[in-house]
Amino acid sequence: MNQPSLVKETQKTRVVLGAPSEAKRRYMLVRKFLPSDAEALSQIFIQNLRQVNIRDYPSEAIEALVRLYTPEQIIERAGKWITLVCTDGQDVVGTASLDNDRVREVFVAVSQHRTGIGKQLMHAIEMMAKEQHLEKLYLLAGISAEDFYKKLGYVVIKRFDNDLNGIPLRVIRMEKDI
Ligand SMILES: CC(C)(COP(=O)(O)OP(=O)(O)OC[C@H]1O[C@@H](n2cnc3c(N)ncnc32)[C@H](O)[C@@H]1OP(=O)(O)O)[C@@H](O)C(=O)NCCC(=O)NCCS
Repeated sequence: MNQPSLVKETQKTRVVLGAPSEAKRRYMLVRKFLPSDAEALSQIFIQNLRQVNIRDYPSEAIEALVRLYTPEQIIERAGKWITLVCTDGQDVVGTASLDNDRVREVFVAVSQHRTGIGKQLMHAIEMMAKEQHLEKLYLLAGISAEDFYKKLGYVVIKRFDNDLNGIPLRVIRMEKDI
């Protein structure tokens, strides 16, 4: 198997990353969010904001964002959206959400960046959107993730500053026909 495969089960999706011959073969599970994931997700969001997104945004904006990612707020938003998490069988290593036709909050643990987890989460999100007969998805990308979404076929519609409690936050509206 040269391509990553995604095997759908009832409520969860088993994702096999990498070719079977690879020594580093890892089994990833993409499943729906559980409240018990919130603490780990909070750490993933905050770690990314302070280590990765800080390269593209002022610290004032980063710390305003950090305040939005408490476990309680994550649980509240997951109640309104369809939130997926990716686990490596032990730890939660990534997340992505679908809010009607908008993709939200795609984050992968920093130590696991560039290993295909973000791509698999987006694939699972797009499969769910297709099941809901959606034909187009949109998202507001942060500067740090624009090229990741471009790789997955999203195109830039416009760039603008979102207002985050008075702090301008540059975002890029991107869309994809699915
Ligand atoms: C953006 C993010 C979700 C990508 O997840 P990831 O698991 O590292 O991405 P993947 O390994 O699945 O990469 C998929 C493809 O995109 C490419 N890619 C990933 N991040 C990239 C980046 N920052 N710039 C350019 N290409 C990138 C990969 O090389 C890969 O290309 P390939 O298919 O040709 O090999 C992750 O880097 C992250 O959590 N970033 C910080 C949080 C963030 O900004 N989230 C988005 C909020 S809008």
